[in-house]
Amino acid sequence: MLGGGAKVVGETRVPIKQGGDIITARQQGRALAAQLGFSSADQTLIATAISEMARNILVYAKSGEIILHPEQDGRSGITIIARDEGPGIPDINRALQDGYSTSGSLGVGLPGTKRIMDEFTIVSVVGKGTTVTMKKWKR
Ligand SMILES: Nc1ncnc2c1ncn2[C@@H]1O[C@H](COP(=O)(O)OP(=O)(O)OP(=O)(O)O)[C@@H](O)[C@H]1O
Ligand SMILES: [Mg+2]
Repeated sequence: MLGGGAKVVGETRVPIKQGGDIITARQQGRALAAQLGFSSADQTLIATAISEMARNILVYAKSGEIILHPEQDGRSGITIIARDEGPGIPDINRALQDGYSTSGSLGVGLPGTKRIMDEFTIVSVVGKGTTVTMKKWKR
């Protein structure tokens, strides 16, 4: 936690190309959340959200990136962008339903992540890629 009005500067970009990159993104996100003064419980939720979106990038798009951006104008928060140039999601509402999975998995990544973040937006174009933008504000 920073005192005396010190600010965390800049954003971090983590390329996602292999399994180990999920761990890196998760750790970087947790570290940024800690610097911003998020509670330990919220740091864990933020790290979990990052892992889920990084895992989706790896599984469905093969590669992409996670961008971690501190928000410090007035209220503190964290913006996380997960973007890829993979196949895209044809029906976003369906993908957000609990239990919907095209890979035979649990289908809880997107809906669960949406629930733990304060803001959650998916922009996806079939054949072009997917961008998930999510924010959590400090309480
Ligand atoms: N980045 C992405 N690109 C293309 N399709 C995606 C992407 N992320 C998610 N999807 C689609 O949305 C579905 C739901 O994603 P979600 O993360 O909720 O579940 P899952 O990955 O199938 O299972 P789980 O995350 O529970 O292991 C996926 O099965 C896939 O069809
Ligand atoms: Mg998933």
